[in-house]
Amino acid sequence: MRQEAAPGHYRMGLHAPEIARAAKPGQFCMIQVSDGLHPFLRRPMSFERIFPDGISILFKVEGEGTRILANRAPGQNLSIQGPLGIGFPLDSSVERHILVAGGIGVAPFPALAEAIIRACGKVPEVVLAARSQHLLVGEDVFREMGCTVRMATDDGSVGEHATAVDVLERLAPSAQTRVYACGPMPMLRAAAEVSKRLGAACYVSLEAQMACGDGVCLGCAVESNREKEGERMVRVCADGPVFDAAIINWTAHNFAYDRSRGSLARTR
Ligand SMILES: Cc1cc2nc3c(=O)[nH]c(=O)nc-3n(C[C@H](O)[C@H](O)[C@H](O)COP(=O)(O)OP(=O)(O)OC[C@H]3O[C@@H](n4cnc5c(N)ncnc54)[C@H](O)[C@@H]3O)c2cc1C
Ligand code: FES
Repeated sequence: MRQEAAPGHYRMGLHAPEIARAAKPGQFCMIQVSDGLHPFLRRPMSFERIFPDGISILFKVEGEGTRILANRAPGQNLSIQGPLGIGFPLDSSVERHILVAGGIGVAPFPALAEAIIRACGKVPEVVLAARSQHLLVGEDVFREMGCTVRMATDDGSVGEHATAVDVLERLAPSAQTRVYACGPMPMLRAAAEVSKRLGAACYVSLEAQMACGDGVCLGCAVESNREKEGERMVRVCADGPVFDAAIINWTAHNFAYDRSRGSLARTR
């Protein structure tokens, strides 16, 4: 199954029973997008939904790899490695769950929302933000699950004329709240700061360019603020991609908001 979810955004269903049996929300897979050697590296993709016999992915065409993937015809075979990494932690004692998505950062959240409803017995609140209305994806999926969905756009074309983190702040997360954020790094940093200030736990799914995807090449390392065995770097692919926002050294990276590349809610 392949479906255009929004301009330049595709949803694809993949028959992969073994991966689906082991997959957890927030984990990802590495997909070989073409049958040949080019592009050489697999591309990381989150699990959008996890079904008994397979998974779905939701992706934005960024460059050559995702363009090739978007053009794969239904019924073809793809080589997929996964599930990889560490996903979102679930805790049924948490009273309130808020999912904050910037652009295609929404990709892992349908699976997470389903898991929170099933395992924690709570219906999460969802904040969806994008540059403009036509780039907002997934609203219908969350509404079908019964989630309250709040939308924000940079141009005010739908929802609030605000960033995802502005909306999060107005939702006033507290010590009984867990915030889950996925999107561009500046948005994650801002979500981490707001959550910390208001006393809420925050888990972020980090972005990094990946080569091996399973902890060997160190190409995806980011700096944490905790030292373990003399090492401060953590690997997004193997130690994450989901991290407690409190352990990331946000100031070590140039995650500042870059106006020339769009807003905090720009798609990744
Ligand atoms: C753990 C993880 C899960 C991901 N899940 C999804 C998902 O569910 N849906 C989705 O659309 N995308 C997801 N991504 C991002 C996706 O892997 C990249 O967009 C993709 O690899 C780009 O490949 P490409 O060949 O199309 O573009 P390239 O030609 O490789 O790159 C095009 C542009 O995108 C930038 N880029 C490439 N890879 C990344 C990256 N990982 N992060 C940020 N910028 C990048 C490049 O710098 C370049 O500017 C995920 C990334 C990670 C690390
Ligand atoms: S991508 Fe190779 S260590 Fe993470």
